[in-house]
Amino acid sequence: MTEPRVFFNFEVTADSHTLAACRERSGYRALEKALLSMAPADVEKEVTASGLRGRGGAGFPTGAKWFFVDKKSRVVYLCCNADEGEPGTFKDRWIFENSSHQLIEGVLLAAYALNVRHAFIYIRGEFDLPYRRLREALTEAYAAGLAGERILGTEFCCDIIVHRGGGAYVCGEESSLLTSLEGFKGYPRNKPPFPAVKGLYQAPTVINNVETLATIPWIISHGGGAYAGIGNQNNCGTRLFGISGHVNRPGLYERPTGYPLKRIIFEDAGGIRGGKALKAVIPGGSSTPVLKGFEIEQVSLDAESVIQAGSMLGSGGIIVIAEGTCMVRLLQVLTRFYAHESCGQCTPCREGSAWMDRVLGRIVAGQGVKGDLESLESVTRGIMGNTVCALGDAASMPVASFLDKFRDEFAYYIEHGRSMNDGRLEV
Ligand SMILES: Cc1cc2nc3c(=O)[nH]c(=O)nc-3n(C[C@H](O)[C@H](O)[C@H](O)COP(=O)(O)O)c2cc1C
Ligand code: SF4
Repeated sequence: MTEPRVFFNFEVTADSHTLAACRERSGYRALEKALLSMAPADVEKEVTASGLRGRGGAGFPTGAKWFFVDKKSRVVYLCCNADEGEPGTFKDRWIFENSSHQLIEGVLLAAYALNVRHAFIYIRGEFDLPYRRLREALTEAYAAGLAGERILGTEFCCDIIVHRGGGAYVCGEESSLLTSLEGFKGYPRNKPPFPAVKGLYQAPTVINNVETLATIPWIISHGGGAYAGIGNQNNCGTRLFGISGHVNRPGLYERPTGYPLKRIIFEDAGGIRGGKALKAVIPGGSSTPVLKGFEIEQVSLDAESVIQAGSMLGSGGIIVIAEGTCMVRLLQVLTRFYAHESCGQCTPCREGSAWMDRVLGRIVAGQGVKGDLESLESVTRGIMGNTVCALGDAASMPVASFLDKFRDEFAYYIEHGRSMNDGRLEV
């Protein structure tokens, strides 16, 4: 039996992103079904029944997130999180480039369920083609009466406002996204209050990832029960997995949850480049703890399975690392990114991430000293759980896990002033 596909269910051609092509593959039928024959609460019920979990990283159940919002409030906002800044993650970009209408339909369905009049799409500043495709799709949708006033001739009205970010990774964190959208510097906010209670302009707000929202048309068309039947029971459905690094066929793959991690790397992505051995895998975007090659034997693409193995499935960005890669230099690259992206609002993250970057830079330059590894570990402990947002954890987890799994490489680098892998990052 062929597995159901929520995204990869059409051939990508020069015009497959247009409204005409989207309509040919039943685009906007779910919206029609909802507006003409379902109450808003029925849409929410289907999403809850589907068991869909957020695809932005934390995996919070979407139905539960919607439930907490007071839909009777005078104003409710919906924000689509399209910041996609986590290194190794490139799934939302694919959706914009190839199926923007699917996202727009998902946004409208969510807006209908949540009593939203104004929905926002906060899109990563560096995105060019994805942004242009989204704008084109919105223009088409407005012209066809699929967005704005009296959608499909019904009472339902919803405007979709696109906001381009300024290129800060931290603005993907939901509360800083709201601050940025309000026109301020994108500082994360303390929680509580949670956005569901006091979000954008202090109104109840739902923030969902692009992939989460773009899945909703499928759920409404086929029913929540059908979606819940795909993949694993507790973490059901299909997911978009981006595979990058030392594989023969890097790219985006849609697979049901529970699919073996080893299979997606060795069969779908064609195995390791140059026939090398698998050294390590970062399974869910660069902030998630690294796993050694042999540790992925029994791991499946399911949040719980990856947690059991000691990491997280995060945003589904699988980074594959071949034998011969210098883990010290790789960690330095990752640490530099997080230090650069720290917004500087809280001391442990601002000082700690910059400090880790400097120490790793010193080690890579051959000037590491005895005690550096213990100090790095102590800094990670000082950051984790002590910051306003999870960027602090994101900066610390790679350091803690690389030191835990590849300590001998770091010790060798400090002792000899060079890498035991000839200092190479690439194979
Ligand atoms: C530093 C940081 C960056 C984040 N970046 C993104 C992002 O680019 N896109 C995203 O959807 N979620 C991102 N998140 C997670 C969001 O805060 C939030 O959990 C998510 O948008 C909720 O949507 P979902 O429930 O559909 O997953 C980030 C979180 C942190 C801490
Ligand atoms: S953890 Fe880092 S990014 Fe988050 S608020 Fe604190 S300083 Fe800013």
